[in-house]
Formats: sequence, C-alpha cells, structure tokens
Amino acid sequence: MNSYTANPDRYEVMPCRRSGKSGLVLPAVSLGLWHNFGSVDSFENAQKMLRKAFDLGIFHFDLANNYGPEPGSAEENFGKIFAADFKSYRDELVISTKAGFHMWKGPFGEWGSRKSLIASCDQSLKRMGLEYVDIFYHHRPDPDTPVEESMQALDYIVRSGRALYVGISNYNTEDALKAFTILRELKTPGVIYQGRFNMLGRELEKSGMFDMLQQIGVGGICFSPLAQGLLSSRYLNGIPEDSRAVRNHFLKKDSITPDLMEKISKLNALAKRRNQTLSQMALAWLLSRPGVTSVLCGASSPEQIAETVQSPNRCTFSQDEYDEIDSIVYSKIKYSR
Ligand SMILES: NC(=O)c1ccc[n+]([C@@H]2O[C@H](COP(=O)([O-])OP(=O)(O)OC[C@H]3O[C@@H](n4cnc5c(N)ncnc54)[C@H](OP(=O)(O)O)[C@@H]3O)[C@@H](O)[C@H]2O)c1
Repeated sequence: MNSYTANPDRYEVMPCRRSGKSGLVLPAVSLGLWHNFGSVDSFENAQKMLRKAFDLGIFHFDLANNYGPEPGSAEENFGKIFAADFKSYRDELVISTKAGFHMWKGPFGEWGSRKSLIASCDQSLKRMGLEYVDIFYHHRPDPDTPVEESMQALDYIVRSGRALYVGISNYNTEDALKAFTILRELKTPGVIYQGRFNMLGRELEKSGMFDMLQQIGVGGICFSPLAQGLLSSRYLNGIPEDSRAVRNHFLKKDSITPDLMEKISKLNALAKRRNQTLSQMALAWLLSRPGVTSVLCGASSPEQIAETVQSPNRCTFSQDEYDEIDSIVYSKIKYSR
C-alpha cells in the first residue's frame, strides 16, 4: 500500500476522556484487534482499518498475546503496520496488550505467574516491534497464583520499562479492588479496568464495578460494546455471510433468536428516533454511564469505524429513553454471550 500521512485534523473528530484520576487519556472510542487482524484475515483491510481509525481520532489500539488467529498474529500484523505507517506517531499512540489466556504449552503459557506475565510481555513486544506498550493488562484472574504475585509482576513490567501503565481485565469487583489496592501500595500506575459491558450485558455494572472504580480513581474501558455486532444494523435482515456469527465461534448463530431480534429491532427504532444508528446509540449509551472512560470496539471494515466514531456526538439520553431501553432489554431477556 502507498505511504501514509495521518489526517492533520484527527483530534477534531472525537472527544478524549481521562482514565480515572490518572494522566492516561483515551479517545471516547478505541479500537480492538481481537477479530479481523489475524493471519487468516486480509492484511490490506487491517491496514485500511488502522489508518481510518487513526485519521478519525482513534489513537488507542488494544491487543492481546493470543489475538489472531493464529494466536500472536494480530500482534505481528499490527507490528508490520506500525512499522510502515505509525512509527513517527508513536508518542501519540496508546497501545495495549495482555497476558493470561492460553498462549504456549506448559504451566507458564497462561494464567498469572510472574514468569508467565513477564515472558509473555517480552514476546508481545518482539512481535509488535515495540520498545514498550502503553498499557499491559493481566487478562484474567488466576485462581491458583496469589494476586500479590501477579501484581508484583505488573509492577516489575512497569519498572523495567516494558509498559507505562498497567490494568486488569475480567476480575470480579472484589478481586479487582484487591488488585488495585496492591498496585497502589506498590506505587504502580494501575489506572484502568477492562471488562465486558453493553446494553445487553449489564453484569459488571450491577456488580458495582463502576462505582468502585470511580471511588478509587481508576478508569473503565468496555469491551464488546456492540455485543459483538448484535447491537448494530448487522443482523437486522438475517445473518450476513461475512459476519462474525457465521464463524459461529465466539458469537454463536444459535444466540440470534427471534426473541433477541425483536428487542434489537425495537432498539433500532429508538435509535432512528434519536437520529442515530443502532451502533451509535449503543456506544453513546455506554459513554453516558458513570465510570466509563472509553468503549473498545471491534470492526471488520473502515466504514464501520467511520460510523462508530460519530457515537460520542449524542451521548445524552432523557430518563424516558433510558427507561425505554431497559424495558426493551429486560423483557424476558434470553441473551447469552
Ligand atoms: N479483555 C477481554 O477479555 C476482551 C474480550 C473480548 C474483547 N476484548 C477487546 O474488545 C475489543 C472489541 O470486542 P468486540 O470485537 O467483541 O466488540 P464489538 O464492538 O462489540 O463487536 C465488533 C463487531 O461488531 C460489528 N460492527 C462493528 N461496528 C459496526 C457497525 N458500525 N455496523 C455494523 N456492525 C458493526 C463487526 O462485526 P462483523 O465482524 O460481523 O462485521 C465487528 O467485528 C476486542 O477487539 C478486544 O480488543 C477484550
């Protein structure tokens, strides 16, 4: 692909938001590379999406050691695109990666031991061709390793210059508080929590996670904010051949029931009345919730990214609109991840 120069007006498109009480600032909409950036996907499309995202003010890209498929290949592809297009913008970018899910054979290829987290961080840096990442996450809690050990590993990762900030993901509220308290005692910048939160999946909010995060001054970034594409126009007229549901892996075809589609059609009608698309309304709704710093979207095309960056433009909801959303979503909900 020809050489790339970023849009000079990229910071005019979308607001930025502070992660808790830290110095870390993120775009309201961030981009995750879980799907569509692996070795099985089109490299050209991946490059187009990253260029489009950065041009529209998305300067935060989220990865993990295992993203692909093949595991590791999203980081490799990102590294190639970074080297070609984004090297001169390094100081503008917030690049995150994670370790915790299965990545290599043996007891240190997953979970949260000191050995596992530090080795995985080194592997990620190598794959991406980076000297450091901006955020390094422990991807999931480890039931067998003391949380003190996992947090001390994060502390070491910061002190050794491998990451600027650290975060945790998929911890429950009680364990997250414990982890952030240890990080604070270690004087390590644990500034962000990453968890699943969307209109259809409210467990995190109900558990008091965002209240707790606000109390301790830590930011929250929501993954799968579109419920993997369900909260968009994608499935309104059936299951498109090129959609995530067709892969039937993380988003199961069976979960797209008539009951769920009825709710999504009703949410779509409300979005239309608000002069938004459904995906824009779903993201705006999240951005209106206390404690949410950024919504971490996925995409399969540059056009989807162009649509989602418009979502922060209308983040206010009347009480009637909030109530209508709840009454649609909670009418005998049958949705599961
Ligand atoms: N920490 C964790 O454990 C964890 C877990 C999951 C995800 N994450 C992070 O969160 C990121 C986002 O997760 P996600 O991909 O599930 O997020 P999502 O935003 O809920 O779903 C993304 C999918 O929605 C569809 N989509 C996006 N924009 C659209 C638009 N404007 N119109 C129609 N459809 C649209 C696309 O589906 P099609 O591909 O079908 O077009 C896209 O792949 C990941 O990349 C990763 O960085 C973290």
